[in-house]
Amino acid sequence: MTQDELKQQAALRALDYVIDGSIVGVGTGSTANFFIDGLAGMKDRIVGAVASSEVSARRLASHGIRLFDMNDVDDIPVYVDGADEINGGLAMIKGGGGAQTREKIVAAVARKFVCICDASKRVERLGRFPLPVEVIPMARAQVARELARLGGRPVLREGFITDNGNLILDVHGLSITDPAALEATIDGIVGVVTNGLFAKRGADVLLLATPGGVQTFE
Ligand code: 5RP
Repeated sequence: MTQDELKQQAALRALDYVIDGSIVGVGTGSTANFFIDGLAGMKDRIVGAVASSEVSARRLASHGIRLFDMNDVDDIPVYVDGADEINGGLAMIKGGGGAQTREKIVAAVARKFVCICDASKRVERLGRFPLPVEVIPMARAQVARELARLGGRPVLREGFITDNGNLILDVHGLSITDPAALEATIDGIVGVVTNGLFAKRGADVLLLATPGGVQTFE
């Protein structure tokens, strides 16, 4: 079974969590794309969706799924999104697609975060995947110095601008023993918009696709 087939299995299982008559929070990335395509098959049962990126919004719209602005929505029963890494406590590294700020906003409103992953994303300790940090452009060098002081090696994501008009520093080599503490520390650096650690608000459910089937962790 290919990695894409596993991603699709996890994504389609997440359709079971969608609540009829609701607005669905929709994430970003290749696994989320499989979820969007599956959601299209039940679009008449939902009111619409809030997207965590412009690219997901376009894909949802291409299926005729009604889009809502986050500012017009105060209840999202379920948010479905992928992750770059997820640990046993359901804390994650996200932002491989550079969308972590909007992802974190939608996740903050959502009552339930359903994370959809293939088995390769499950780790004992977060940090092998470089941590994406969204940065206001004029603060790039200063934030990079601060991240280096924390023991990381920040690398500018070349040629990439976020949906919010900012830059991404991918931080290699961090030792993440306390994800929630590091999330708060990095968010406290002036010029940081959002970092890709989702520990304060982790997932509520993990649907992990393995060659033996989709496993559920809560
Ligand atoms: C995008 C994300 C994605 O969820 C993450 O990068 C996983 O992507 P994929 O499903 O393509 O493996 O956080 O910002």
